[in-house]
Amino acid sequence: MSNTKLTDSYWQNRYEKGEIGWDMGQLSPPLKAYFDQLTDKKARILIPGCGNAHEAAYLHEQGFTNVFLLDWAKAPLKAFHEQHPDFNQNHLLHINFFEFNTAASARFDLIIEQTFFCAINPSLRPAYVQQCAKLLKPTGKLVGLLFNIPLYEDHPPYGGQKEEYEKLFSTQFHIHTMETCYNSISPRAGNELFLKLLAK
Ligand SMILES: C[S@@+](CC[C@H](N)C(=O)[O-])C[C@H]1O[C@@H](n2cnc3c(N)ncnc32)[C@H](O)[C@@H]1O
Repeated sequence: MSNTKLTDSYWQNRYEKGEIGWDMGQLSPPLKAYFDQLTDKKARILIPGCGNAHEAAYLHEQGFTNVFLLDWAKAPLKAFHEQHPDFNQNHLLHINFFEFNTAASARFDLIIEQTFFCAINPSLRPAYVQQCAKLLKPTGKLVGLLFNIPLYEDHPPYGGQKEEYEKLFSTQFHIHTMETCYNSISPRAGNELFLKLLAK
């Protein structure tokens, strides 16, 4: 079976057709619990492959002022802007994550992972890890959720398992936490890992 070609227009089309089965329509409870214990409202936070960005809507509502959304599809960024006109438009980045570059002074404290990693071709996983490490400050963290089940091999969501992730991420990060979530939404219960990785 050939691999689906995951271009910018592939993703844009998915939004235009409303084929966005990955979208939970709400902030993921494990991420809400994590956000609720953050105190630095000025932290620079990047959400790559943000889609409809329920995480960002919540952070914005809570007064976080340096949240950046990045997506290769324009549709969700446009929709987010329409729904949150007071969110800084300069923080909506329409670009391929792998081509995103930023000055050292503009690196991030936190990158949030929420069904972006499973949407890219698995051959790009080492590049994802390197790119996250490059975009973070030396004290930065990569925090989020990863599926811990095989899923599909020829189209997203691509799955994986903890052992593979440990090997992959430990090239660039110290693994602080990589544990099955206790508070996933029920369709994902038992199949999601919460991760908190510290830049090396
Ligand atoms: C499965 S969706 C997840 C969206 C959102 N995080 C959520 O959980 O609802 C994957 C998202 O990643 C975006 N995406 C895929 N490849 C990308 C890339 N190379 N650079 C930036 N965004 C990308 C897609 O446009 C899509 O919005």
